[in-house]
This record gives sequence, structure tokens and C-alpha cells, in this order.
Amino acid sequence: MTSPVASASSYPVAPALVEYPHPALRRPTEPVTVFDDALREFCQRMFAVMEAEAGVGLAAPQVAVSKRLFITDHKKRKGAEESERRVWINPRLENQQGTSVYEEGCLSFPGIYAKVTRLNTFDIVYQDEYGVERRQSLDVSAGDFLGIVVQHELDHLEGRVFIDHLTPLQVEMVRKKLQDLEKTYKKATGSAGAVIRR
Ligand code: CO
Repeated sequence: MTSPVASASSYPVAPALVEYPHPALRRPTEPVTVFDDALREFCQRMFAVMEAEAGVGLAAPQVAVSKRLFITDHKKRKGAEESERRVWINPRLENQQGTSVYEEGCLSFPGIYAKVTRLNTFDIVYQDEYGVERRQSLDVSAGDFLGIVVQHELDHLEGRVFIDHLTPLQVEMVRKKLQDLEKTYKKATGSAGAVIRR
């Protein structure tokens, strides 16, 4: 049977968070080309998944959808009550400068935190959920925590995870927790998944 709207995009009705070493975290993503209600509903479902886990960012591969989009919900200022939800589609970076180190965690790596070196200053060019192109300049050392979040989420769209940025010594420090996640995944699925070589 054919769909009445042949070009409508298709997304899971009940997206669920996947954890390391689920292979979806390593799959390359496809650009979003259709900006329709199905896309916007999917984004709302992603916000629900992220809020249930008290996250500040969530990328589509983390719910096993290989599309170039992520969402954020960040406090505008440190300690601020109000937060700002945003959808970032087909993002790319421009005018990258400097580095900044920040301790990161990831909903797909529960209980693991590590310092990661990121860009300090850059522009991110992206589309919103209606396909409108937007540009935001971010400066991490000037207090833009969002600058860390979007770099972390952008990595997910390339099939990269924050563990990939760690030194061998840092990986050694989280080895036990990675192994625990690997065991849990194997027990649940019967397969090893996409295990990080170390
Ligand atoms: Co993450």
C-alpha cells in the first residue's frame, strides 16, 4: 500500500534512548530534506526522551535514527531557571578558533564523565524544524556552555562519541564502566555491539 503523501518523512512513534555499544551510535547520518509535521513531531518526542533523562542535548542516532539532527535544552545563563529548547538540523561549523576543555557526559554512556578538548569559538550554521537557515556564534570561554553541547551532539551525527577524544590514560580510567555497559548490552541483545577498541 502506498502512502497518500509519498514524500512524507518517517520516524519512530516511540523513540527510545540507546546506550553504548549500540551500533546506531556509529552509523553515519543522512541530511534531513523534508521539513514536515512528521519531523516536528519526532523532535517533540526526542525532547520527551531527553527530559526523562534530564539531559541538555540529544542527537537522533541516540534514538537509533540516522538523520542529521539534534536537540538541546540549555539554561541561558548559569543558574537560570528558564531554559531554551532548540532543534538543530543539518548543522555545520564555520570560523573555528581556539580550544576549550570541559567535563562532558553523555546519556548513551551513563555514569561516565571525562574532560574533552573542544573548539572555543565558532559559528554553527543549521536549519530549524521549518527548514529556515540560522547561524549562531558561540564562545565557550565567554560562558557559552551551549558551545560545548552542540560540538558534543555534532559528533554524534558523524558517528563519533566523546570517548573517541580521550587519551589512552583517560580511557583506562573509565575502562571498567565501559566494560559494564558492554556486558549489559550483550546480555540484553546477545551481540557484542560496536565496541570501542582500546
Ligand atoms: Co552524547
